[in-house]
Amino acid sequence: MIVSRWLTRPFKARMRGSAAWFEDRTGATELLHKGLYEAVPKKGGWAYALGSATLALILLQLFSGIFLLLDYVPSVTDAFTSLDYLRTSDGFGAWVRGLHLWGSYTLIFVIGLHMVRTFLSASYKRPRELNWVTGALLFFLVLGLAITGAMLPWDQAAYWTTVVVTNIPHYLPFIGDGIRTLWRGGEFVGPITLTRTFAIHIWVLPFLMFSLIGAHLYLLRRHGEFGAWVNYSTDPNEDEEKQIGERIRRAEPPYPTKRIARRYSAPRETVPFFPDQLIKDVVMSAVLIAVIFVMGLISGAPLDEPSNPATLSYVPTPEWFFLPLDQFLVVAPTNPLIAIGVFGVLGIGAALMIFLPFIDRSPERRPLRRPEVIIPALFMAFTVIVFAILGISRLYNL
Ligand code: HEM
Repeated sequence: MIVSRWLTRPFKARMRGSAAWFEDRTGATELLHKGLYEAVPKKGGWAYALGSATLALILLQLFSGIFLLLDYVPSVTDAFTSLDYLRTSDGFGAWVRGLHLWGSYTLIFVIGLHMVRTFLSASYKRPRELNWVTGALLFFLVLGLAITGAMLPWDQAAYWTTVVVTNIPHYLPFIGDGIRTLWRGGEFVGPITLTRTFAIHIWVLPFLMFSLIGAHLYLLRRHGEFGAWVNYSTDPNEDEEKQIGERIRRAEPPYPTKRIARRYSAPRETVPFFPDQLIKDVVMSAVLIAVIFVMGLISGAPLDEPSNPATLSYVPTPEWFFLPLDQFLVVAPTNPLIAIGVFGVLGIGAALMIFLPFIDRSPERRPLRRPEVIIPALFMAFTVIVFAILGISRLYNL
């Protein structure tokens, strides 16, 4: 009855009616409008494109990963052969493997830059503490995905990386050996280790990652983009209460209320997300994806000799992002107490990073006025670089 009445109406009226029905049931246009025309701070838009670029690269990983899944066989007897087949006999196989590899490298680099930018601009402060916490967890998940991915080809490099990485939990007091046995599926690396690492790489970590991305983006919508201190009045003598009051009334949603924090309540000048910021987001993501396509085509992804657990002389070369940690691991086993100490320090460092917004409670946003967090961060960066250099000179006999 409803269908026949609908079919008898003129075409335009039918379309308008359908669109109104869809909008009423979903609120899609309202949502899109709200998202597109949201006000974002005017200055520094290229730096604020790093978050969207991170998202674009994750989606690229998802798509290239799905294509790899069409051929990859997660078994110790066939994993290497299936990737070797892709490399030698499939027209696009080597390119897709290259895309996934170079995509992961670029993703780690870009997510790192996004983190540095939100750290320097102190975007993690009230009310965006949870934007930071979800982001920091995402950073560790991305590293987890990269390292579990490196274990899947089951060539020599992957096999020995698996031996080293699955041994890391061993250094955790009390529960460490249990975790190692659970991950390996026994005392030693074997077929079950690959099955479990594959499940972690394609199900567990992506499930956690996409849930956290949802939370991260929801919080971004809730609190709006902070941007950086350059967008806010920082002159303490300026009688800005009135101006700020006015800007806060226009800004949505509620912002901090302490007097010094009120200075950072609403940006002086804003632009609509569409088209101003969206163009920058699209350009940055497109350039990065183009570079990844070219690198994937030119250099592909390596495949070593098939794995051979009997080799005694093989020295695994870790992925570049794993190099500082690998060097820590080389130092750690010399003495069990040193090992536990090193892992304790790493664990405390990771916890400090995740809970940074609850440690740095001052409302100040300018980096030079935050030496109490900037100096420890520089020290941490310096330590990571020193360990990377030590690792490079050990591996390449420099
Ligand atoms: C899967 C990874 C991530 C995605 C997809 C993502 C996405 C985004 C997007 C689209 C924005 C808004 C645009 C921008 O400010 O760049 C944003 C803002 C933010 N992100 Fe991320 N992000 C990720 C990881 C991280 C990490 C690792 C951190 C830090 C540990 C972080 C902390 C923040 C903070 C504090 C903001 C608010 C910035 C502001 O309001 O000024 N995010 N994120």
